[in-house]
Amino acid sequence: MDLEIVMGAARDASGSAYAPYSNFHVGAAILTENGTIHAGCNVENASYGLAICAERNAAAAMALSNPEGREIQLVAVSSPDASPCFPCGACRQVLREFGCKEVVVEDESGLRRYPFEEILPHAFGPEDL
Ligand code: THU
Repeated sequence: MDLEIVMGAARDASGSAYAPYSNFHVGAAILTENGTIHAGCNVENASYGLAICAERNAAAAMALSNPEGREIQLVAVSSPDASPCFPCGACRQVLREFGCKEVVVEDESGLRRYPFEEILPHAFGPEDL
């Protein structure tokens, strides 16, 4: 799968962000091991603490539409308001749950790829229970 296609889905999703409070728009696209793409955007709330990040909404979309293939190969994250835009700590843990192997972000020079172990080292996961 061409990474540009996955990042394109993340970019498109950032256009759907509901971020009237922070004005910080984020899109994420998960590529599963079986080759499906699931996108999400951040969705905020007047009760500020209820905001949900793009990455976690993408993970929820994957869990719903791909119950037999919840293995994440990689996640691409895009924001018109930050370059690059990395997943927050909570989202890193949620991505870890589904075995995410790589995080892809973008800056002026293009796509940048990070092994997940660099994003969340020594993580706690389902295998530890
Ligand atoms: N946000 C994301 O959606 N993903 C990130 O990786 C960082 C932060 C959202 C949460 C909130 O709606 C806004 O960006 C500002 O924190």
